[in-house]
Amino acid sequence: MVSICRYNHVFTCWPSTPGTHPHRCPAASAWVSILVPTRNRLSFIIPSAICSTAFRPIPTGIAAGVTVPCPASPRWRRLLDIPARPPLPGCPPVTDFDPAVAAAELLTVRDFLRYGVSRFNAAGLVHGHGVTTAHDEAAFLVLETLKLPVDRLDPYLDARLTTPERKAVADIIDARVRTRKPAAYLTKRTYIQGVPFYVDERVIVPRSYIGELLFGDLFGGDGFTLVEDPTEVEHVLDLCTGSGCLAILAAQVFPNAKVDAVDLSAEALEVARINVADHGLEDRVTLFQGDLFAPLKGRKYDVIITNPPYVSDESMAELPPEYRHEPAMALAGGGVEGLDIVRKILKQAPKYLTPEGGLLCEFGTGREALDAMYPDGEFLWLETADSFGEVFWLTREQLTEL
Ligand SMILES: C[S@@+](CC[C@H](N)C(=O)[O-])C[C@H]1O[C@@H](n2cnc3c(N)ncnc32)[C@H](O)[C@@H]1O
Repeated sequence: MVSICRYNHVFTCWPSTPGTHPHRCPAASAWVSILVPTRNRLSFIIPSAICSTAFRPIPTGIAAGVTVPCPASPRWRRLLDIPARPPLPGCPPVTDFDPAVAAAELLTVRDFLRYGVSRFNAAGLVHGHGVTTAHDEAAFLVLETLKLPVDRLDPYLDARLTTPERKAVADIIDARVRTRKPAAYLTKRTYIQGVPFYVDERVIVPRSYIGELLFGDLFGGDGFTLVEDPTEVEHVLDLCTGSGCLAILAAQVFPNAKVDAVDLSAEALEVARINVADHGLEDRVTLFQGDLFAPLKGRKYDVIITNPPYVSDESMAELPPEYRHEPAMALAGGGVEGLDIVRKILKQAPKYLTPEGGLLCEFGTGREALDAMYPDGEFLWLETADSFGEVFWLTREQLTEL
């Protein structure tokens, strides 16, 4: 049994074909597959007629980008011919909810959490920007708006809100539904590994798996490591830095390193500048505008981290509304497979790495495409709590042999 998502609706289906198939299988082209570039989610558009209305997460272990159970049976194919219906028939239209009524009648954090989940479910939102469920997104919006710790819901559930607080929370829940903007764009804040970052529409909402990997055992842990002693790392590059989030996390993980961070977008770098200043890292994190390595002539790095754009042209055309608020330049990897930018990075990286250096790169669900393009490549695909094989590590030596 696997749960899949039609934009915002998560459904349950029963694939009858045994084994697993690459997601780019014949059936997938019939019912377009969509990468939702966030934790543990691979979504497909499927006709709603074949779906239950249960909202369920994709079970752990079905990671986007590797292989997924593929509902390619004749039964599925027949069902897939059924035209799609509007989401969740029977639900009241969005306009039937009045935030002023919510502000007047609801009292506690629990009330607003419940209200948020109801509204998000009814409107069929997509939750892919640092959260994966309507509950988590409602909790984030309520807690962040009330300036409470976003990871501590329980102590506040029964706390009552003041009148201005009730209005603020009702309004932001309403804005999330009306605008379809990711919550972080409404609160202007998001967190990776508990570290806060300013965000707005000039950058993609930070959600890279690289954050978790940087803070894990691979960098200075007791067992297998990519970098044995992070204190010895002197130069780090964050390519495609966006909000600067990974450069800032890298500065924490490699306490003695200077970190360079590059982005093509001048607007993104304005946001990165805010974050670098907020974290007091102006003396250690340097921002560059330019195309990949172009502004870095002659520099060498011990570690390069990068979460480049990697969404394929096909997936770009099918993105849910939430993702359309993000800069296209931050998502579109170029080409049918979304591989164009990553290919350039792989080609140029060796020149910018020290002999012992390595590249940590997120590539989402494109693992098969990359493996096909570099059949002899010794990609070390890494796991996180919610992903498998979406980030790889290559040493300089391995890069030169590609
Ligand atoms: C997926 S976002 C990653 C942002 C950030 N590192 C993160 O993880 O949240 C990719 C970023 O690459 C930038 N970008 C796109 N093409 C680029 C290029 N040719 N050279 C440098 N940066 C580029 C985009 O502006 C965007 O900020």
